[in-house]
Parts: sequence; structure tokens; C-alpha cells
Amino acid sequence: MRRKLAAGNWKMNGVTAALGELDALQEAASGPADVLICPPATLIATASAKAGDLAIGGQDCHTARSGAHTGDLSAEMLKDAGATYVILGHSERRADHGETDALVAEKSRAAWSAGLTSIICVGETLDEREGGKTLDIIGMQLAASVPDGCTAENTVVAYEPVWAIGTGKVPTTAQIAEVHAFIRSSLIQRFGNSVASAIPVLYGGSVKAANAAEIFAVDDVDGALVGGASLKASDFAPIVRALNAA
Ligand code: PGA
Repeated sequence: MRRKLAAGNWKMNGVTAALGELDALQEAASGPADVLICPPATLIATASAKAGDLAIGGQDCHTARSGAHTGDLSAEMLKDAGATYVILGHSERRADHGETDALVAEKSRAAWSAGLTSIICVGETLDEREGGKTLDIIGMQLAASVPDGCTAENTVVAYEPVWAIGTGKVPTTAQIAEVHAFIRSSLIQRFGNSVASAIPVLYGGSVKAANAAEIFAVDDVDGALVGGASLKASDFAPIVRALNAA
């Protein structure tokens, strides 16, 4: 059985006071699903110290271990601060910072070297979906963003349609099922059945308490990457509970 993961991406939100939300998540986090919060990097060390049943992760890392890269953070630094995961290739990083698939793959190798699990994000834009290119785009992003050496321990894949992120628009369950089945079969083709069938594949994009159970019932959906609805425990805990029950 694949492990299930409810991952919260706080993006550029939250100062120390926000860490009170972690306490309120403990009960939901004691269930079978793994629960991860990726706060801003400034909060990782403090969050890790009070994480309890939660895992803590970063939202990005550099490819290098150290060096002259003003403002950047290495995977080793995230690990040292208490992170066990790092989100890589989020569409906001791809759009705001011009991150390419090749760069995402290099970051993932750096994350693995530091002992972090990579959450590698892929997803089509609305134009690409309307142009019938969704599976081509996802296939290309997967092929080039997920490095050789991927295992179920070091990697989680997140399918996040760009048009569903922060918009309140969610694909139909049939659309989610189609892409998740495609991701699973692509991973199996490349890494073999025993490795690929154990890699968690998350859905992300406007997940909330009201739609979580329906999304988690879709085949090959092993959890969610949640933005807005992860900021408050009162919104995120019901999503975690829905995953525990799925
Ligand atoms: P959202 O963001 O849940 O606010 O749509 C998802 C994400 O960007 O990971």
C-alpha cells in the first residue's frame, strides 16, 4: 500500500505567531496519513522544534551545497533546520523564477544528497489543457524534472494544474483520474512496477474540506498538496481527516 500524504504549502505566508496552527493539527496528524507543513524558510527551525506528529519541509532549494548564492538556501541547510521534505518545481517557482525542468531535476538530486524527500510538481496551463496538450506537457515535465534514481522513499510527485492553483477551479474527478493514471503509468514505464507503484502522487490546486473526500476517492490520488487551505488548522485538519478516512 502506498503511503498517503497531506502536504501544506504556506508559500510566503506566516510569521512566528502562525506556528500555533501546528498544535491544532496534532490530533488529525496522529492518523494513518503523513502530514507535512512547508512554512516559509524563516520558520522551519522553530516549526521543527514543535512539529510533533507533523513533518516539516522547505518550498525550494538551491542545486549547490554551499557557495556564493546570495539569498539562496541549500538542501543541506533545510535538512539542518529540521526539514525532511522539499517542494520543487512549483508552478510559482517556474513562473516567477524561470525554473526549467532541468533545474528542477538538479535541485532534486541536491535534495536527495542531503537526505530530503523531493515533492516534484508538474502541471499544465489552461491554454495547454484547452489545446489538448495536457498529457504531452505532463509527460515532458515528468521525464525531465524527475531524475534517474527516483524511489518511493526519496520522491513524491504532485500534479498541480496551473489553472487550478489559488483559483477555486478544480478539474473534474475524471480529469484528475486521467492525469494520475498517466503519471502512474509513465513512472512504471521508467522506474519499473515495484518502485513506481509505491511512489505517492498528490493532487494540488484549490483543494479544500468540501472537495477533499471526492478527490481522495480518485484512483492513484495518494494525497494533496494544499496552499490556501493549509494556512489555518481549522481548514487543513478536515482535509487531513478526509485523507485518513480514504
Ligand atoms: P491552492 O495552492 O491550494 O491555494 O490552490 C496549491 C498549491 O499551490 O500547492
